[in-house]
Amino acid sequence: MTRIPLRSVFRTTLAAVAALVVLRVTGSVVLGFRDYFPANFDSDFLRGRESYFFGPYQSAFYTHILSGPLALVFGLVLLSDRFRTWSPTAHRVLGRFQGLNVLFVVCPSGLWMAWYAATGPIAAVSFALLAIATGACTALGWRAAVCRQYGLHKRWMNRSFVLLCSAVVLRVAGGLGTVLEVESPWYDQIASWVCWTVPLAALEAKGIWRFARGRRPSRPGAVQPPVTASTQ
Ligand code: HEM
Repeated sequence: MTRIPLRSVFRTTLAAVAALVVLRVTGSVVLGFRDYFPANFDSDFLRGRESYFFGPYQSAFYTHILSGPLALVFGLVLLSDRFRTWSPTAHRVLGRFQGLNVLFVVCPSGLWMAWYAATGPIAAVSFALLAIATGACTALGWRAAVCRQYGLHKRWMNRSFVLLCSAVVLRVAGGLGTVLEVESPWYDQIASWVCWTVPLAALEAKGIWRFARGRRPSRPGAVQPPVTASTQ
């Protein structure tokens, strides 16, 4: 009987749980759309925004709330090795859509909305940097794929997805704050930074750890064979 290494079981379970959390939170975000179609200014998010809502903010808001959940769901699919192996062409087509959606819709709309962040300038700066960082990682990942540097492509796209998941982490933190009845006005501002800097730092720490243990990630210039060499 073939023995499956415990570490592999652990990693698969962890990935499955993380995917379920992303889907669960995305689902509840989408359910919240009933407050946005039409805009309900008594709802949590839209309260107090009536004065500037109609105009550019409205366009940014609606494109953002529709493109964000798509980016999360498609990101999950694109990260799957099984999906990529099953159809490299589908990976490439979906990847192009994801790149365009994140670069030209999610990030610019998030950047616009950042200046109106409900919790003030500290959160506004964090969201603006998050938009720029996500756009940069996505653009660099796309460029690496075009140059057939697949190891590098994967690393930039992992970063892009982790940054997109800030939307999930932020909502989990918000839920935790409600359950713990946190009253501090600082809580949301700290959460706006923690939601992307900590997951990104964890991802980088994992890369450094693997590197230190001698499992060097592929060199930036290296062409990696079988993944999708003929198709990406
Ligand atoms: C680059 C990544 C992102 C940036 C920079 C960003 C930025 C923002 C900003 C600044 C706001 C308004 C916050 C406020 O006024 O307090 C917002 C709201 C929102 N974002 Fe994002 N966002 C990103 C990714 C996502 C993703 C991946 C989703 C998918 C679920 C998403 C869904 C939403 C929704 C639905 C709202 C409206 C508030 C709500 O219903 O919770 N965002 N985002």
